[in-house]
Amino acid sequence: MEILLLGNETLKEKARPVKQFTAETVKNAEEMIALMHAGKGVGLAGPQVGLMERIFVTHVDGDVPRVFINPSILETSEKTVRYEEGCLSIPGVYAEVTRPEKIKVQAWSEKGKAFTIQAEGILARVILHEYDHLEGTLFIDRLSKLARSRVIAKYEKRKRVS
Ligand code: NI
Repeated sequence: MEILLLGNETLKEKARPVKQFTAETVKNAEEMIALMHAGKGVGLAGPQVGLMERIFVTHVDGDVPRVFINPSILETSEKTVRYEEGCLSIPGVYAEVTRPEKIKVQAWSEKGKAFTIQAEGILARVILHEYDHLEGTLFIDRLSKLARSRVIAKYEKRKRVS
């Protein structure tokens, strides 16, 4: 597995539901967690590694690593917050994105166990960011046109330098 970067069309595609929980599902989740840790990220979604399945992993400060398969966002708070986001597929650039403050999400673990959690703060933000990846949406797609083009220009510039 390797992380696909901005410009790769796969990142714009919608992921398919996981139909069967197998040893492969567990292996995918483990590899994604390892890759997320290696990249010092707080979340990673299937499409970011070319795995077009509805799976993502998270690991925010003070929390345990989590795996979400076939997730549904059941509730989102009216209250929203603006906070800086980045993405392992767009390394080195950050921008403020507005998202609901609290959410309720239902999903399955890599072993096929269903669960529902309420999340707020950074975890809620990361879950929503990763969920977007399953729909082919990047955080920069949630910015104004101007902010989006600024972020892309900065990313391109950074890419040329490195
Ligand atoms: Ni991302």
